[in-house]
Order: sequence, then structure tokens, then C-alpha cells
Amino acid sequence: MLVILISLLSLSRSDISGSNTIRQFFSSLVSLQGIQKNLNMDCLSSTSTDNAYLCFFPQFALANIRTPFFILNSAYDVYQFHHILVPPSSDPGGHWSRCKSDPGGCNATQIATLQGLRSGMLTSLRQFKSKPEAGMFINSCFAHCQSELQDTWFAPNSPSIDNKKIAEVVGDWYFERGAAVEIDCAYPCDSTCRNLIPIDKNGFAGA
Ligand SMILES: *[C@@H]1O[C@H](CO)[C@@H](O)[C@H](O)[C@H]1NC(C)=O
Repeated sequence: MLVILISLLSLSRSDISGSNTIRQFFSSLVSLQGIQKNLNMDCLSSTSTDNAYLCFFPQFALANIRTPFFILNSAYDVYQFHHILVPPSSDPGGHWSRCKSDPGGCNATQIATLQGLRSGMLTSLRQFKSKPEAGMFINSCFAHCQSELQDTWFAPNSPSIDNKKIAEVVGDWYFERGAAVEIDCAYPCDSTCRNLIPIDKNGFAGA
């Protein structure tokens, strides 16, 4: 029953230069691996052949998944930020480098762009939020994965929303103990974050 999905919820958006780098990238990945035939049938039948690869993504596939699922994602997912919103190809001058490595280094325009990433994600999630079996934890931390580290999952100072850590909200959902939908206020309101921002030797963030 438990499915935890992380990331790639904002696939349909363009990057800051107006191109859609990530769609092209994943469209080639789906054809390279020949995985289209294994994608969700219900999603495929409601999508045109040219766009069938979109069914690879939670944003499009989720609506057709019948198994109850819990969505865990950061509203400022650093993978989405660094590879979908501001991929290196969209910022050849490196004007976003400081902001990418530290949200405190972002100027007002960049923060406004990041708030757009969050609101796009919340819009994609709206359709799932009201379902009786909904489970969701969308915090406002700069991170990609938060489920595989004890420090972010369930430790005395783990990220929390309304005083609940990820493990507690997943537990409430799994054991049907009541509402299990937590959506954080916008950056920079959350003081419980562990911002986990990967940086490689070239200064670009990795996956
Ligand atoms: C913020 O930085 C971007 C990228 O360098 C720049 O285009 C923009 O004008 C800056 N905005 C402000 C308000 O300083």
C-alpha cells in the first residue's frame, strides 16, 4: 500500500530561459530505454502518442494510480530547482550560482521565481489533496530526498510542519489515524529545515 513519491512533480514548467530542457531530456530517456510500453496504461490512453513519455512523471501518472499513495516532496526541491527551473543551459552567465548553493544568496527576483516553483507544485497537488485517502508532506526546505536519512525522517531536530515530522505524518496516514496532509508555509518561514544542497566540483548541483 505504501508508495512514497519524491520529486519531478513540476515537469510541465519551462526553465528561466523559456525552454523546456527537462521534457526533451526525459523524452529521449524514455525512447532510449524503450520503457513507453511499461508506463501506466490509463495514462497512456488519455495522452497523445507524441506526449506518451509524460506518463513517466508523477505529475501525469499519479491521477491514474489506484493504490493509495503518500506524496513526500519539498516545495523547493533542489533537483527541480537546479535541473528543471534553472538548468545550467538556462544560465550560462552563472547569475544563479550563489542562489543555487545558498537560498540566503538569492535576490528578490530569484526568490519570486522560486515561489513560482512552489505555487506550481501546489497547483499540481490540488487534485490529490481533497481525496479521503490523501497523504502528503510538502515542506519548504531546500532538499531533494528527505526519507532516506534518519536526520530528516525522524530525529529530535528533523524538519517538521505543525510540530509533526515526516515519519509521524506518514504514520498517521498509514495507520489511518486522521488527517495526514501537511503543507508548509512559504520560504523562509520554516526554521526546522535541513537544507541539503548537493554541489559538485564545477559548482553545479548534482541529482
Ligand atoms: C537578481 O539577479 C538576477 C540574476 O543575476 C538579475 O537578473 C536581477 O535583475 C536581480 N534582481 C534584483 C532585484 O536585484
